[in-house]
Amino acid sequence: METINKFDKHVMHSYGRYPLVMNAGSGRRCTDENNKEYIDFGSGIGTNSLGYCDNEWADAVCRQVRTLQHSSNYYYTAVQAEFAETLCTSTGYETVFFCNSGAEANECAIKAARKYSFDKYGRGRHTIITLVNSFHGRTMATLSATGQEVFHNYFFPFLEGFVNVIANDIDDLKAKIDNTVCAVMLEYIQGEGGVNALDKAFVDAVYEICNRRDILVVADEVQTGVGRTGKLLAGEHYGKKADITTLAKGIAGGIPMGACLFGEKVKDVLTPGTHGSTFGGNPIACAGGNVVLKKVTGEGFLDEVNKKAEYIKSRLEKCGEVESVSGLGLMIGISLKTKNASDIAKAALEKGLLVLTAKTKVRLLPPLNIDYAELERGMDILTAILEG
Ligand SMILES: Cc1ncc(COP(=O)(O)O)c(C=O)c1O
Repeated sequence: METINKFDKHVMHSYGRYPLVMNAGSGRRCTDENNKEYIDFGSGIGTNSLGYCDNEWADAVCRQVRTLQHSSNYYYTAVQAEFAETLCTSTGYETVFFCNSGAEANECAIKAARKYSFDKYGRGRHTIITLVNSFHGRTMATLSATGQEVFHNYFFPFLEGFVNVIANDIDDLKAKIDNTVCAVMLEYIQGEGGVNALDKAFVDAVYEICNRRDILVVADEVQTGVGRTGKLLAGEHYGKKADITTLAKGIAGGIPMGACLFGEKVKDVLTPGTHGSTFGGNPIACAGGNVVLKKVTGEGFLDEVNKKAEYIKSRLEKCGEVESVSGLGLMIGISLKTKNASDIAKAALEKGLLVLTAKTKVRLLPPLNIDYAELERGMDILTAILEG
């Protein structure tokens, strides 16, 4: 209680927290201050992609801490060069801008999309279409981009130039595309919005219209990227590569890092002085990211992610309380017939399992390298609660 009291007295109450003081973690398990153990099916919201304190990852990070912990972006570092090269080569992108979070990666994408259009067409072509029920972050621009009314309170005025289209509604998309539009920004699977994958026909229509009109497609893969859906990028499920893709969360295995990837058209759009971040591309984060990428792109890793996802789904299909299962790979949403998702998350915590919620669903984002024994134990706990 001492930690919670101290915390509640001094830390702004901007989050609803569970009464759990996390103390240490190893593999896919963590312990609280009383040494109670939890299996983690949430990964710190998809961030600890290799679980807690993976040995190779921790060695690389600690080595970097003892070698060079930070350099301003006035200089070059080998570790950032290596990370940029691996990231671009493995995803098929040309250049990358590094920052520290998903919202920052999306801020960068918004600025880059507007600048691409300004450089080529001049003023007035600045509108960015985003989808109803999307989530793009908590900064002023990314909140303005977020297509959920519930986030559009208190902080007026929001930024101009964002128009929302109903996800999967091609007619709405067509009706709202005009000569002011410079980009369409989407999550292939809306994460915070409830783990809803976009229809392929809608994604096809977005790309067809955008390519024809030189409108950029921006894929927000902050939650879906870096192996989470069983592909390195979720766009691969749709056979698509956006002009700009944003990444964060799992990219550096639990160290703050965001990345904005640029394809051929936009690879040189940000020129000196147009964008920056003091910590962006920090050597420690890049050292962690190098290990994450090496593992996630290693032979058979993503096949295993898909097999584990199948195992989870097969367990859920047998569970009477489950209405349906959504998502791809290890990004899973569970719709329930009668029970309330946040009650399930609280009950799971009691029983030693961490799960997330997304709107009315239970959401699972387990570490990508979770093993079958941990999966089985976690699923035993979850299904017993769902059926109880
Ligand atoms: C799709 C998506 N975009 C952006 C963000 C914001 O990321 P961050 O919290 O790192 O700023 C999130 C966070 O949940 C997200 O899921």
